[in-house]
Amino acid sequence: MTSVNTDTSAQASAESTPALEVHGVRKTFEAEIAPVRALRGVDLTVARGTFLALMGPSGCGKSTLLNLIAGLENADEGTIMVAGEPLTEGSEDDHALIRRRHIGIVFQFFNLLEGMTVLENVALPAIIAGRNRKSAETRSRDLLDLLGIGDKASVMPGVLSGGQRQRLAIARALANEPTLLLADEPTGALDSAGGQEVIELLNRLHAAGQTIILVTHDANVAAAADTVLMMHDGRILDHVNPGAGSNGPATTIGTL
Ligand SMILES: Nc1ncnc2c1ncn2[C@@H]1O[C@H](COP(=O)(O)OP(=O)(O)OP(=O)(O)O)[C@@H](O)[C@H]1O
Ligand SMILES: [Mg+2]
Repeated sequence: MTSVNTDTSAQASAESTPALEVHGVRKTFEAEIAPVRALRGVDLTVARGTFLALMGPSGCGKSTLLNLIAGLENADEGTIMVAGEPLTEGSEDDHALIRRRHIGIVFQFFNLLEGMTVLENVALPAIIAGRNRKSAETRSRDLLDLLGIGDKASVMPGVLSGGQRQRLAIARALANEPTLLLADEPTGALDSAGGQEVIELLNRLHAAGQTIILVTHDANVAAAADTVLMMHDGRILDHVNPGAGSNGPATTIGTL
């Protein structure tokens, strides 16, 4: 099993439950010619506060793994626990609750709501999760300030630069104070300046204690993480610790 633990500080027991535990996860997609065995037995434990980068060739199963962790797809076999709560047992409603409470996800192509303002884009997930509008908007303003786009709250996403659009997508993913921030090639559609903005932001979130799992093809982006895992043919290979990232959460963004 691959175990990633970068947090050596003593913490209360609830806090020391891993952010993520994946055991024996398999996923096969039916396809016209032959079934595609996208995940062939994945084991992974991620401690809270870790910034993990997942790399590997196209088609090796990175997005599939992220989508299973996010509860967007179901595993055929194996277990996935997020903050100690099972995503592979219980009903779809249970999974939706766990997802809402513990997971924020960012994609390569932003998935923004173009007809809503920047502020509304961030506030919506919290309102859907049951927060009242006023408190959702207050937290959203704080998040936009933290992410450096507070002055854009009332504009439509269409006028933002690529880097700003992705920062907005990250703000939205953080709206419900997720245990885990998942990012699937968040810099893949950006130029180098936009990509750099996003990396710097992820670094700041990590320094504040956010657990992050990032999929990337770019070794420069992966270098921001404290742990890099390689995937190949539906499995995770051994991991390397570049020793570059700072760790040890000081404060949490949950205090916003
Ligand atoms: N919904 C689906 N139906 C059928 N096959 C799928 C589906 N989703 C993924 N696959 C297949 O599963 C395999 C793993 O796909 P996945 O998207 O996880 O790869 P990836 O590592 O994210 O690749 P990339 O780096 O190109 O994004 C691929 O062979 C892909 O074609
Ligand atoms: Mg992918």
